Amino acid sequence: MRVFVTGGTGAIGGHAVPALLAAGHAVTALARTPAKAAALERQGAAPVRVSLFDREALASAFAGHDAVVNLASAIPPMSRFMSTQAMRDNHRVRDQGSAAVADAALAAGVGRVVQESVCMVYRDQGDRWIDEDAPVDRYPLTRGNFAAESNAHRFTQEGGGAGVALRFGWFYGPGALHSEQMYALAGRHVGLVFGRPGGYVSAIHMADAATAVVAALEAPAGTYNVVDDEPLTKRDFADALARATGARMWLRVPGRAAHLFGHRLTSLTRSLRVANARLRASTGWTPRHPSAREGWRATAAVLTP
Ligand SMILES: NC(=O)c1ccc[n+]([C@@H]2O[C@H](COP(=O)([O-])OP(=O)(O)OC[C@H]3O[C@@H](n4cnc5c(N)ncnc54)[C@H](OP(=O)(O)O)[C@@H]3O)[C@@H](O)[C@H]2O)c1
Repeated sequence: MRVFVTGGTGAIGGHAVPALLAAGHAVTALARTPAKAAALERQGAAPVRVSLFDREALASAFAGHDAVVNLASAIPPMSRFMSTQAMRDNHRVRDQGSAAVADAALAAGVGRVVQESVCMVYRDQGDRWIDEDAPVDRYPLTRGNFAAESNAHRFTQEGGGAGVALRFGWFYGPGALHSEQMYALAGRHVGLVFGRPGGYVSAIHMADAATAVVAALEAPAGTYNVVDDEPLTKRDFADALARATGARMWLRVPGRAAHLFGHRLTSLTRSLRVANARLRASTGWTPRHPSAREGWRATAAVLTP
């Protein structure tokens, strides 16, 4: 297929573009700077400079492609995670950016739109498994994600072909800033555990997030969770990270104190035991790292070889 990727220069994109190329697809990708364009060229993708918010220019850029994969996001780094302005920028990319992508894909006659979302949209379900039909929660941070999903589904409804929304778990691995920061902290004996240590975190190694993007090119229109096979409790997730770094964990923070930050940290404090059965059954996709135990070990091998 000919695939156009937006956000191909980001954390997930840095894994997804090579995975798409390795699967035999021809990739065009949005580049915002000459340096990013050069990096895409080195990977084997064709860079294009175009605004994510300019529908006409996007439609021209999308012409002749079979699919558009929208991985553009502006999630702030951990140090600015609580900043309202930083989150506003992210909402703009998710909300207005995804609308422009869907409209431009419709105008260009593209057959498929794959849209990034997150599985932090689900309600806390304690120990219960969560599938794509489980109840969601519309707290402020998720506004942009729901808008992005709606635009993917609108693409399907307006006759564009298949709109696919991918609800990624908490992703980790080389190239994700927050995960490299967590890895460095763990090496200093500090584990990050948000909320109840017995609550679940549903995670995905970025290499597996990338193969899920490839699989989504064959999936029927709809919404799919992209998480590994075995969500761990937050305690076990932190322990898996500590074991991967080889450092004994002395401190787990902020724990239940994270609840004091209310809805601004609710995406991290809730218990989410999310299932990946729909994507596996629909496409045959299988994560290479069945849980964060294997995934953090693989990450450690890259970050501290
Ligand atoms: N979901 C989670 O698990 C989670 C949790 C906490 C933090 N995070 C952090 O969130 C980041 C998420 O990774 P990601 O790949 O989604 O994001 P990312 O690494 O920040 O990449 C975002 C992509 O979107 C592009 N982009 C941003 N604003 C744009 C705009 N206005 N127009 C066009 N393109 C735009 C970026 O382009 P440029 O390359 O030109 O900037 C980049 O290609 C990671 O760094 C991670 O550390 C994720």
